[in-house]
Amino acid sequence: MKTEALSPELLTETARAMVADGKGLLAMDESNGTCNRRFGSAGISQTVEMRRAWRELLLTTPGLSTCISGVILYDETIRQAAADGMPLPRVAQDAGLLVGIKVDTGAKALAAHPGETVTEGLDGLRERLLSYFKMGARFAKWRGVIALDDMCLPTRACTSANAHALARYAALCQEAGLVPIVEPEVLMDGAQTQARCQDATEAVLRSVFEQLLLQGVVLEAMILKPNMVIAGLTGTARNTAAEVADATLQCLRRVVPAAVPGIMFLSGGQSGEEASSRLNAMHVKGERPWPLSFSFGRALQHPALDIWAGREANRVTAQQALMHRARCNSAALKGEYSAAMEAA
Ligand code: 13P
Repeated sequence: MKTEALSPELLTETARAMVADGKGLLAMDESNGTCNRRFGSAGISQTVEMRRAWRELLLTTPGLSTCISGVILYDETIRQAAADGMPLPRVAQDAGLLVGIKVDTGAKALAAHPGETVTEGLDGLRERLLSYFKMGARFAKWRGVIALDDMCLPTRACTSANAHALARYAALCQEAGLVPIVEPEVLMDGAQTQARCQDATEAVLRSVFEQLLLQGVVLEAMILKPNMVIAGLTGTARNTAAEVADATLQCLRRVVPAAVPGIMFLSGGQSGEEASSRLNAMHVKGERPWPLSFSFGRALQHPALDIWAGREANRVTAQQALMHRARCNSAALKGEYSAAMEAA
């Protein structure tokens, strides 16, 4: 099959647009289970209609495209419509946002490796990608989940199984005309040291790039979505923004080829302020070979979700809270974020 969409140059153009102009991605691709859990904590009823209403609220935030280049949707969302009947992917496009889609089917227990997972979803993926392309998607996301502890995790079995799946997924995306976001997430929960996180992240990324090259993935036509390198969130150690920036950049410089057109971080459970200040610190550190940006879920959505609480009356204030976090992160991409922005 050959279509115009398969040209690597077009994919590179899309990848560049995702990280251009001080913009990042809004990850709003929580599976129904995860979305329901977050709704539960915010006292919101866990129904298909509330998930639809929340996603419509996010996509219709006035001015969103001034800070956000694209959105990552979930399978349920890409098939839903706004209250006025307009399909949600069209709502996103009309708002000037590129449409992305989460295409993995989740992290499942890895046999013979207690506490570790491998992300599934390769079966039937070629066909699903083609149908998402027809629905307007121009990029995709697959998240490999790597558990980390202070002893022996991750195992090489877990790292290499996830790296292999990520590379198979990425090659299929490029064949279908979609830019793959390759997301190997070393989990931030736990009490491990920052040094341990750095070692694990470096080993995981090495394995991922080895597999990407083996599977023929065009590095110029993909986006990397890694974790930042930080001490575990449930431990007592807290890193300064500068420490996170130094360790993260050192790790990335060692393993990520300069050909990759962009690196967009996940937030992974950091607060919105922490994620912004760390991203900012990376941008005041000088030159690096790739643009760095954000592809945050919780660090963009959470304050807005708490304000919304499922009530239409709170729509505008919730959208303002989302825009505030989007502006903070956009400022961080220019090294212009400061704590004063939070008070403003
Ligand atoms: P968080 O920023 O909440 O980690 O979500 C990003 C994401 O897309 C996880 O797969």
